[in-house]
Amino acid sequence: MVEKDSDDHTPAEEPIATPNFIGLLLEVEQDAMAAIEASEKPIDQLRIELLGGKSELARLTKQIRRVPEQDRAQVGTVVNQVKQKIENALSEKTINTPQGATEPIDVTAPGTLPPVGHLHIVTQAVSEITRIFERIGFTRVRHPEVDWDWYAFESLNMPPNHPARDEWETFFIKYPEVSSQNTLEVIQLHTSGKKYKTIVLTPHTSNGQVREMEKGKLPIRMINIAKCYRRQVDVSHTPMFHQFEGLYIDRNVSIMHLKGVFDYFVKQFYGPDREIRLRPFHFQFTEPSFEVDISCGICHGTGYVTKGQKCRLCKEGWLEMAGSGMVHPVVLKNGGVDPAKYSGFAFGWGIERAYMMKSGTKLDDLRLIYSNDVRFSEQF
Ligand code: DAH
Repeated sequence: MVEKDSDDHTPAEEPIATPNFIGLLLEVEQDAMAAIEASEKPIDQLRIELLGGKSELARLTKQIRRVPEQDRAQVGTVVNQVKQKIENALSEKTINTPQGATEPIDVTAPGTLPPVGHLHIVTQAVSEITRIFERIGFTRVRHPEVDWDWYAFESLNMPPNHPARDEWETFFIKYPEVSSQNTLEVIQLHTSGKKYKTIVLTPHTSNGQVREMEKGKLPIRMINIAKCYRRQVDVSHTPMFHQFEGLYIDRNVSIMHLKGVFDYFVKQFYGPDREIRLRPFHFQFTEPSFEVDISCGICHGTGYVTKGQKCRLCKEGWLEMAGSGMVHPVVLKNGGVDPAKYSGFAFGWGIERAYMMKSGTKLDDLRLIYSNDVRFSEQF
């Protein structure tokens, strides 16, 4: 307080020439710059010392009235420039100083590692499924995800307007414009005797069946993994999802082989204690057809978690997983395979669903898988 009084009164009486005052201001600026560069004090403390109410700059600013009145505005501008310069130097030092660091930096300390990601759960599942089937002689193949109606439906024994098609809520696509480049290809397709019809976003991986047979090599042991598209969005559906489709065609293939392959897959993917069962069903492209269930991993196929308390994950101990069956003779014929000599089985599973069942996650909304939220993805 004493100091303040003396500032306010005593020196204020003596006038000071403008250039001298500006000289004093520039000295304050220089001292401040040197202090900022050399000092290891925390930035906040430095700021108070250099710009606060008791700083040299504040003291000098208060004496501005000693300058001739007509020059005060000009001097005021210089005061502001000095303040700004000190402020800038302090901010720069803040950026270059590790937070709260008053200690010397250890340049030999290991750096901060950038966060490391991992493959998306669906990608993980795709490679795991591929590896399991490869061990029993299946080869992963790829077929178009945008395909002719013929492969997605008609060759699979579902003629146009067949009611079974309704189950696949399909996205249809217009023909590409016929340009001079693809005219030939389109004409060939239309005159090749097959009714290609329109183009669809494949609603299931079964379009790979006839395409695989058309390669003309037997036996076939394919696993076709691809994206599928259907007009469905709710807690258990996303408009884009993945399926894996198995097809085994050889002489004397029977339902026993189908069961054996499923059993092997389920025990590898879910664990040795899981069982499968086939339930009679209907698909146009298989005869006989089945739905495949696996025993529930929570209640171990009993339907009850404790006595009297029903399992909430499954239906009476079983989870519905896949469609399957013995390839229909019409489908074999459409693929150029003689049903009198060859038989085969096929199956199709949804990958997202298969993975949900495996991890035992309490995932109550399948759409989360594609929400791009790392808080979700990090858990797997
Ligand atoms: N494509 C069927 C679907 O998406 C699943 C399916 C059922 C595939 C039976 C098959 C099969 O290969 O034989 O619902």
